[in-house]
Amino acid sequence: MANKNKLLESLSMSGFVKTVAERLRAVGKSSDAPVPDLLSYPENKLAQQLHPHVQFLIVEDIIDHSPDMKSYILAADLKRGGDKLAWFSAGQYLVLQIEMDGKTISRPYSIASSPCDTKDGYYQITVKRVEGGVASGYILDNWTIGTPVTASAPLGDFTYERLRDAKTVIGIAGGSGITPFRAFARAIAQGEEDFNLVLLYGSRTKKDAVFSDEIAALAETCNKIKIVNVLSASKAKDCEQGFITAKLIQKYAPKDEAYSVFLCGPQAMYRFVDKELATLSLRQKFVRHELFGEYFHPEQNDDYPQDGKAVYTLTVHMAGQTKTVSCPADTSLLRAMEAAGLNPPSDCRSGRCGWCHSQLLKGDVYVPESVDGRRMADKIYGYIHPCCTFPLSDCELDVPPMPKL
Ligand code: FES
Repeated sequence: MANKNKLLESLSMSGFVKTVAERLRAVGKSSDAPVPDLLSYPENKLAQQLHPHVQFLIVEDIIDHSPDMKSYILAADLKRGGDKLAWFSAGQYLVLQIEMDGKTISRPYSIASSPCDTKDGYYQITVKRVEGGVASGYILDNWTIGTPVTASAPLGDFTYERLRDAKTVIGIAGGSGITPFRAFARAIAQGEEDFNLVLLYGSRTKKDAVFSDEIAALAETCNKIKIVNVLSASKAKDCEQGFITAKLIQKYAPKDEAYSVFLCGPQAMYRFVDKELATLSLRQKFVRHELFGEYFHPEQNDDYPQDGKAVYTLTVHMAGQTKTVSCPADTSLLRAMEAAGLNPPSDCRSGRCGWCHSQLLKGDVYVPESVDGRRMADKIYGYIHPCCTFPLSDCELDVPPMPKL
């Protein structure tokens, strides 16, 4: 009792008891009118415009780069309630919901336009056909002008941060990994970003180097941008030949100051360039990868413990239902679920965002270290990211249902 009194006394001394009593009186006097529509508050409306849960877009134009690569100009779909496009930082991506043969799948695509282009009412994404890729082929073969597209807000952290990154960024791009760098280059030329971009763009031939001429034209008008084509299968004037090595990076990097390295491209490029970067002893914060892990091949990793040919079963508990699907060893658990018509949540597809976070109830799995973005607690309590987890035995998984867009 003495303790209780002491506690009450201390609460009283801090004014807490008095505050509670006052609040109860205020609640008693308050109106019982319904709470106004939250969007009637301008702050909430602005927040929703900047970070919408979903964006209703429409294909407004299509640019053919080659039979296997096209850019899509996406504008707000006014008929479906689309409004202003959400602002973003150069380097971010959209997750597109793709309705395909009665199934819905989602895929991230980097925004290739600059943030300033949203003021003109459009995003641009560029899609390249990927061998074995489901979504890219479907988009290239089926999307036409007028196709409705449902997208997330802009997402991702492959962005320039003045407090973290050096003033000069060596951009290393391969294949369709050029798209965020096109956004960076346009944003720098338009004054939206302020850093020096030296872009080493790896392609087989100059003809394969989509956006190269456009970025070179920006470089002519803005001395903060430089592009160097690095050709692996041909020679061309003013281009480097071979692969992007440590020596080549040093040739174009600033000599007397720190620089950041941003990489975006296929897994094979990361495997090669990461070994080269290791010899340069750069600080970890200065090396940033954009990872789109859908086409990750576990068997290409030295520590992968099997040959990838086995086929396992995956039992999935999701939204109150249980389904057992087949999962080849070289296929991520996420792709196996999608191939079986399930619609589990996903976003970055590279182990980074945590959106696909699920609990592994049974089984052994392989998670490549380079895409293992789990927290320590996740590992201890058996949580995984199915987008970058591969089966080593039959597995059982508890998956949160896909939130409705
Ligand atoms: S989808 Fe982002 S971690 Fe799996």
